[in-house]
Amino acid sequence: MKKILITGGAGFIGSHVVRRFVNKYPEYQIYNLDALTYAGNLENIIDVENKSNYTFVKGDVVNEDFINELFNIHNFDGVLHLAAESHVDRSIEDPLAFVKTNVIGTINLLNAAKNQWKDNFEGKRFYHISTDEVYGSLGIDGLFTETTSYDPNSPYSASKASSDHFVRAYGETYGLPYVLTNCSNNYGSYHFPEKLIPLFINNIINNKPLPVYGDGNYTRDWLFVEDHAIAIDLVFHEGKNHETYNIGGFNEWKNIDLVRLLCQIMDRKLGRKKDASEKLITYVKDRPGHDLRYAIDASKITKELGWKPSVTFEEGLEKTIDWYLNNQEWLQNVTSGAYKDYYKKQYL
Ligand code: NAD
Ligand code: DAU
Repeated sequence: MKKILITGGAGFIGSHVVRRFVNKYPEYQIYNLDALTYAGNLENIIDVENKSNYTFVKGDVVNEDFINELFNIHNFDGVLHLAAESHVDRSIEDPLAFVKTNVIGTINLLNAAKNQWKDNFEGKRFYHISTDEVYGSLGIDGLFTETTSYDPNSPYSASKASSDHFVRAYGETYGLPYVLTNCSNNYGSYHFPEKLIPLFINNIINNKPLPVYGDGNYTRDWLFVEDHAIAIDLVFHEGKNHETYNIGGFNEWKNIDLVRLLCQIMDRKLGRKKDASEKLITYVKDRPGHDLRYAIDASKITKELGWKPSVTFEEGLEKTIDWYLNNQEWLQNVTSGAYKDYYKKQYL
């Protein structure tokens, strides 16, 4: 039986990856390591908690002794590393928290894997899940490819770029078998409502202002989270060692156009008057260092591994909105307590 460690599996993307691996691979023993920060929530994976091939471990990737001990006990065959501080706005307020988890946490895992596997790397794999933000910002045209130079602009993307470099360095220096993916913006269920789409869905439900940064003409390439989980599964099993794959939705939207579409769908679903939600749009102070545009050329993963997004944006957005409307208790739970302080500081 293979023992697989997934980090950050109580977060947004991690919960989808854990669910997929636990259900699809009963022959694997899946260990989900998560510190349960504000972004991690056991409710996100409640449907797998009693499965016999699943174990949850509460712990911090920054704690070196704990990570080494965990590897000594379990002798993992593979690691899918998703644990991270993930929100750009929070990184502007507290860069060090991002260095600790994203850089030092990644190095702790790399060391533990290297030390455990160094006598025989055969059949082992360290998979680092990263972001397209490491490439910096595009102008009005062009796409990020796997050979685009790193040029991160936010403390978040700088910390992810640094962790990517360490992963590559461990591959070159110690021969650690790794794969790395850089993905564009995800959306879907269990997305924490600090990020654009779930924040705006929650605010529309509660008739609160929709804070569009700057002029709203920033562009992101959106991918349905379940399609990202499918890509992660494929890369983990079929990707080539020491390779990077870009993952994207072939789906660029200017923020303001996306927000208008969201408003229209929400008005229809909530039975509100046409334009009711659009009236909530409020232009606010821009994010410092705001990257103008991200867009991924995902042709390598398409050509080499046969992956492409399976869900159109319109379908994915409908599914996502339905999920939030049907899971308002989840929304209320995650927006109580500390979320209120964050919201006040960020927006009021
Ligand atoms: P998230 O913030 O929703 O979840 C992060 C998870 O990591 C949470 O469960 C949290 O409790 C856990 N965590 C945080 N610090 C930890 C620590 N020190 N030790 C152990 N666990 C810790 O993030 P997400 O959006 O699901 O992103 C997951 C990964 O995918 C990240 O590495 C992120 O950089 C990357 N990524 C995200 C996107 C996106 O659009 N969300 C796109 C591309 C790549
Ligand atoms: O590109 C991948 C990245 O996508 C991931 O690596 C990050 O973890 C993830 O958070 C996401 O980063 P973004 O900064 O692009 O996502 P966010 O949802 O924060 O913002 C999307 C766009 O919307 C961005 O241009 C900023 C804008 N925005 C965001 C918020 C929260 C607003 O206009 N208003 C807001 O209140």
